[in-house]
Amino acid sequence: MAEQATPTTGREWQLAARPNGWPQPTDFALVEAPIRQPGPGQILVRNDYLSVDPYMRGRMNDVKSYVPPFQLGQTMDGGAVGHVVASAAEGFEVGDAVLHGLGWREYATLDAKHAVKVDAELAPLSYYLGVLGMPGLTAYAGLLEVADFKEGDTVFVSGAAGAVGSLVGQFARLKGAKQVIGSAGSAQKVATLVDGYGFDSAFNYKDAPVREQLAAAAPDGIDVYFDNVGGDHLEAAIGALNVHGRVTLCGAIAQYNDTAAPAGPRNLALAIGKRLRLQGMLVNDHTALKGQFLAETAGWLKSGELRYDETVVDGVENTVDAFIGLLGGANTGKMVVRLTR
Ligand SMILES: NC(=O)c1ccc[n+]([C@@H]2O[C@H](COP(=O)([O-])OP(=O)(O)OC[C@H]3O[C@@H](n4cnc5c(N)ncnc54)[C@H](OP(=O)(O)O)[C@@H]3O)[C@@H](O)[C@H]2O)c1
Repeated sequence: MAEQATPTTGREWQLAARPNGWPQPTDFALVEAPIRQPGPGQILVRNDYLSVDPYMRGRMNDVKSYVPPFQLGQTMDGGAVGHVVASAAEGFEVGDAVLHGLGWREYATLDAKHAVKVDAELAPLSYYLGVLGMPGLTAYAGLLEVADFKEGDTVFVSGAAGAVGSLVGQFARLKGAKQVIGSAGSAQKVATLVDGYGFDSAFNYKDAPVREQLAAAAPDGIDVYFDNVGGDHLEAAIGALNVHGRVTLCGAIAQYNDTAAPAGPRNLALAIGKRLRLQGMLVNDHTALKGQFLAETAGWLKSGELRYDETVVDGVENTVDAFIGLLGGANTGKMVVRLTR
């Protein structure tokens, strides 16, 4: 077993109380926990970047879902990238860069079979939490496989300045969309969509009803709607979709902090006459596409055709601020927490 000097304790975030509505800093506790040396088949990783993602809000509720809820008084988990600092696992050496699922902490001891080695030469490590990781595959599979995107489609994406949305719009552009339209929550984000990511048009959903702004942006209707938001966005898109239009139901962030049941889209019956297809997606169903996604996306990054932004928050102690900030739109591109420089 190769080893390198490590401290004996590390900081970890635990869920202290289940949020009611918007999460509050007091719902979380930063604790100092002993660092466990790896047992046979295990590695000890010093995390460099932690991911905060909208789905984590759902895991803070005590409800049955596709991922189990976080437990009160237990360290939370999530995507992270870091370097192996001790290894008792064949094939893993001290210094290897790995992607794994024990985030929300400085040090992680885990079975090596749950870690994936990543190439720090190919891309900055944090990219494996975003454009080359889960959000990237979500955008790629959600557009190409779930929405069955075709060249010449007009595509509307909400949450368009975020990790998934910014990639959906650019993938659509790169794959030959007729028109790409995005919505986001500030004038600055709207400008970035058009000037930075090459969207044909964009609007701030806070300026006027989505239905009106979408109708103005797409007078001939839309063929694909990639939904990250739900609510009024979904209703507006159903109204704007052309016959045989397709919707990828990826997220509904507008309602993650709701304390009462949201109103459904009131115009769902339109889906009948227009023969619309609305399909939910979970990224983990699309791992077969990973090779193709990585090859194509890495190529676009290299050629400069794809722009990728991150909002970086420094320090493990600021992870909760980064998470709450993400829910409120503090990020452009992927929100990540950097632990080491
Ligand atoms: N199904 C899957 O497998 C899967 C996988 C990954 C992600 N997702 C979903 O995809 C969506 C995007 O995830 P992400 O990681 O890329 O996050 P993100 O878009 O980078 O960050 C969340 C963004 O949501 C926007 N937002 C917050 N409240 C809103 C509201 N009431 N109305 C409209 N926009 C609002 C904010 O931007 P503004 O400033 O524009 O408001 C914020 O920046 C989320 O719904 C997430 O749950 C699903």
